[in-house]
Amino acid sequence: MTDPVCIAKGAEAEVFVSSFLGRASIIKKRSPKRYRAGELDYQLRSSRTKNEARLMKEARRAGVRTPMIYDIDLAECSITMEEIKGTKVKDRLDSDPGSAAEICIAIGAAVARLHNSGICHGDLTTSNMIITDDGTICLIDLSMGKTKAELEDIGVDVRLLERAFTSAHPDLSEAFSALMDSYLSIKKDPNSVLRKVEEIKNRGRYT
Ligand SMILES: Nc1ncnc2c1ncn2[C@@H]1O[C@H](COP(=O)(O)OP(=O)(O)O)[C@@H](O)[C@H]1O
Ligand SMILES: [Mg+2]
Repeated sequence: MTDPVCIAKGAEAEVFVSSFLGRASIIKKRSPKRYRAGELDYQLRSSRTKNEARLMKEARRAGVRTPMIYDIDLAECSITMEEIKGTKVKDRLDSDPGSAAEICIAIGAAVARLHNSGICHGDLTTSNMIITDDGTICLIDLSMGKTKAELEDIGVDVRLLERAFTSAHPDLSEAFSALMDSYLSIKKDPNSVLRKVEEIKNRGRYT
């Protein structure tokens, strides 16, 4: 195994590139947090690690591209997974806004397939999606996701995605409309999602 190189350090986890049995891989490791008491800290890190791996598998079953899992180490709270070769969707939309409509149609389809299988992502932003060289959207960072998602969870997913777009890509409102058209054309019972999203927006206005 080559020495892992850290490529991202977030509030929750550190991400390393490495190799696993000769394959390019990513290790996502949740390190202990000093501000949390020992046992609670471990419970949180290990349950998020388990949930993330479970959700990646369930999403793939639903026909949504996610990294293959190579190994899970619950003592270390780390997941070793396939390295997805491609570009973060956030970076692609910034560098090549001309391709935004096409990318957004693919995002809408991927999210609709996920939701049609009763799965919500929990943190849908363009930083948690990688576009591969063949244009496939791969979803990552699913630790906040749920299976058996209720309409509320699905509405929140859509609303968060909309907010992520408005803040990260303020000039791409037309592309976001294309995303929603694509999503609604595939999502089962699309009108109930639209109503739920409106309700969530209205709630936000008065609280
Ligand atoms: N399987 C993967 N293949 C390629 N890059 C990845 C993979 N997983 C994570 N990354 C990279 O690491 C970054 C952080 O990973 P992420 O799972 O989103 O962690 P965080 O919870 O810190 O946001 C991603 O934005 C992406 O650039
Ligand atoms: Mg992330």
